[in-house]
Amino acid sequence: MTRSFFIETFGCRMNELDSEKIAGALCREGLRPARDPGEADVVIVNTCSVREKAAQKAYARLGQLRRRKARERGLIIGVVGCLAQLEGAQLLRRVPGLDLVAGPQREHRLPQLLRQRLAGGSPAVDLGMDDGGAPAETEPVLRRSRFCAGVTISEGCSRRCSFCVVPAARGPQRDRPGAAIVREVERLAQEGYVEVTLLGQTVTTYRDPVGEYGDLAALLRRLCRIEGLERIRFSAPHPGDFTQTLVDTIASCPKICEHVHLPVQSGSTRILRAMRRGYTRDTYLRVVERIRAAARPIALSTDIIVGYPGESEKDFEDTLSLLAEVQYDSVFSFKYSPRPNTPAFESADDVPEEIKSRRLSLLQERQRAIQFARNAACVGKTLEVLVEEKARTNFSLAGRAGNNKIVNFDGPDHLMGKIVPVEITGYTPNSLKGVWKRAPTEEA
Ligand code: SAH
Ligand code: F3S
Repeated sequence: MTRSFFIETFGCRMNELDSEKIAGALCREGLRPARDPGEADVVIVNTCSVREKAAQKAYARLGQLRRRKARERGLIIGVVGCLAQLEGAQLLRRVPGLDLVAGPQREHRLPQLLRQRLAGGSPAVDLGMDDGGAPAETEPVLRRSRFCAGVTISEGCSRRCSFCVVPAARGPQRDRPGAAIVREVERLAQEGYVEVTLLGQTVTTYRDPVGEYGDLAALLRRLCRIEGLERIRFSAPHPGDFTQTLVDTIASCPKICEHVHLPVQSGSTRILRAMRRGYTRDTYLRVVERIRAAARPIALSTDIIVGYPGESEKDFEDTLSLLAEVQYDSVFSFKYSPRPNTPAFESADDVPEEIKSRRLSLLQERQRAIQFARNAACVGKTLEVLVEEKARTNFSLAGRAGNNKIVNFDGPDHLMGKIVPVEITGYTPNSLKGVWKRAPTEEA
């Protein structure tokens, strides 16, 4: 009987894409995807380690699986992702019964590791890391969506932001050859994918290692020529190297979505220095100005950390005033979480928990009001929406506009995977609603 597998993913877009790559590799090995973890013979947990809560969730889930394994002896449990890389040895001790452990750079080896484990003996572990060379090519990929695909352009990160585990977990930045990226996107377009998101930790430092396609702007321009592909997104740029050429490229290529996620982390130059982010409040705001001055409107979102070591009320006020100044379309905000293997782990986590919580809710409240106003400004406009799923709300369909806003509306199922015009009629702080503008010839 063929074995079945299920992959549970915590964390970022990169992890989601890694899980799709692992799924592809396991299918090639002859396993089949299970609909539900309870039915699977092999359960793989793809972990995140960016904040302590994420790590705790992974440990809790592994605890449950371990208890299940006490009843089902044949169950295979695997752990991959950033927590596996950073705490591999500890995981093996804390979670007896683990069968497979692999870090983010070794996940493509899961089929071999599984074979090794099934052949008997100790758990199969690969936590090796390469310092150079291009990321492993890992096709085919078993993707969850039939319309939107993530595409790796680089792996790892060579910056050293003081709070961040990514460089320790994923190693230094390694860029994928432009030709391999172009080939993958061409194939996706042929298979009917409408939208791709180029993924890397700091995509603005991307350089084709072969020298054929140059930097991110050049790669984007090349990808825009691919027939059938309608939308290109990229995540995440770094504010320290967001060039005017990149702004001009977005402004002049209609296929590139009019949205930029520009993580700021703090509005205080003092804290940004301590975080080693490589820009100040003013230089960040200059990048924002450049983006705002583009020939077409570009939506902005960001990430913010509150309660970084030493963050004073004044520093936090600077973050609030930055929000007011930039007027982001959305913000992901987090309480600082000290992480082993990061430079800031040595500093005292000296902002008390209740102050972190108060700052976080104040920030979210302010941002909610900003988003309310920004979304209100969309009413009456017609946005092009890629229909991605059945809505979880009262509406039948949901999708995203080019500016990354979620739009709910009513329409027939056959619109799924298409880009359609929707006139915006209402809003909440987190989404828009609207009416599909059906062409007279189109069936309802
Ligand atoms: N390269 C990515 C960052 C990945 S981590 C990027 O630049 O977008 C995603 C976000 O998690 C970060 O932007 C930061 O806001 C948050 N984060 C990272 N480490 C954290 C920590 N130790 N505590 C709280 N939030 C953190
Ligand atoms: Fe992390 Fe900073 Fe790189 S947030 S991923 S070290 S750019």
